[in-house]
Amino acid sequence: MTAGYDVVVVGGGAIGMASAWRLAQAGMKVLVVDKGRLGGEASSAAAGMLGAQLEAHRAGSFYELCRESRALYPTYVAELLEFTGIDAQLVQNGILQLAYTEADATLLHERAYWQRQAGDSAVWMDASEVQAAEPVIRPVYGGLFLPDDGNVSAPRLVKALAKAVGMSCDVREGSPVSAISPETGGTFVVTTATDRFHADKVLLTAGAWSSSLLRPLGYTWEIQPVKGQMLSIRPPFGVSLRRTVYVGGTYLVPKRDGTVVVGATEERDAGFNRDVTIGGISALSEALREIAPGLSHAEFLQSWTGLRPGSPDGEPRIGELPGLPGLMIAIGHFRNGILLSAVTAQMVAAAATGRGWPERWQPFHAAQTVQIGR
Ligand code: GLY
Repeated sequence: MTAGYDVVVVGGGAIGMASAWRLAQAGMKVLVVDKGRLGGEASSAAAGMLGAQLEAHRAGSFYELCRESRALYPTYVAELLEFTGIDAQLVQNGILQLAYTEADATLLHERAYWQRQAGDSAVWMDASEVQAAEPVIRPVYGGLFLPDDGNVSAPRLVKALAKAVGMSCDVREGSPVSAISPETGGTFVVTTATDRFHADKVLLTAGAWSSSLLRPLGYTWEIQPVKGQMLSIRPPFGVSLRRTVYVGGTYLVPKRDGTVVVGATEERDAGFNRDVTIGGISALSEALREIAPGLSHAEFLQSWTGLRPGSPDGEPRIGELPGLPGLMIAIGHFRNGILLSAVTAQMVAAAATGRGWPERWQPFHAAQTVQIGR
């Protein structure tokens, strides 16, 4: 038996690391255990979009949670920079959703309406305004510009979080967890091939790998890997994209270093396979050429995949599970793990310390929605 912890965090992606850091800031003794290296899976693969308005498809609690996390980002990134010296490169350049037809435009106008009602900014741009703003894009009917959505460098955010965690918590990398076992007395043992860690509380943040640890405990809420293939390019000298551009499931995200990340496939039948495929990369390349012919001569840099943690409704569940006091989860962030890491860490800290759980977070509480199968 290894020395006891207040909290053992199982899974060191952006959600696990941000949570561990906040728990350590709250005075807890925290261990982060990861099967590979910190941030080595979906978190560092992400395009890093902070698409609160892009990714929410209706007004309501999920949209509000995304907005809340987006609003935390400038402070979150600044705090990480101050603590670690690593800048996650927040870019507040907005996201431009393109319309090719009048029907597309009608849908975007509806989106603009409910987002403005909520107090967000959503600016309609006609064809000539889009062309003038982003000359690399092919002529379109118009576009909806969401100026408050932005992006960060996901690999740099992960690096900053890993450093913050290394400075404030114990860390075990290369240590797959085989079991989380409740003990008499309300504590837990977290078992790896070489260790048994004793903890008052456990936080499961293993992304797409969470279900195999939840199932043996009797919880049937399933997280499925949803593969995303991505690529990055460097535009020729003098050619640039200023805003993130999104249409038909493809996004082009300009980064502060001048590169553009192009994503992403959404593959639900690939399981844990992480191959970059000819089909995936050619589909992304064709979409890129279709959307932005002005980037056809960009240099291809690299391609990669990530496995999103797909929850049944695409929304996360956070907090203490019913039936096992002390066992917490923060999983199912699907397409929005980077965006939601800021608010999720605050939610986890609230759950772990017994601070209040505001009404607005209630739809995402683990106790509301995770079924007990025993
Ligand atoms: N956040 C975008 C994606 O998951 O593809």
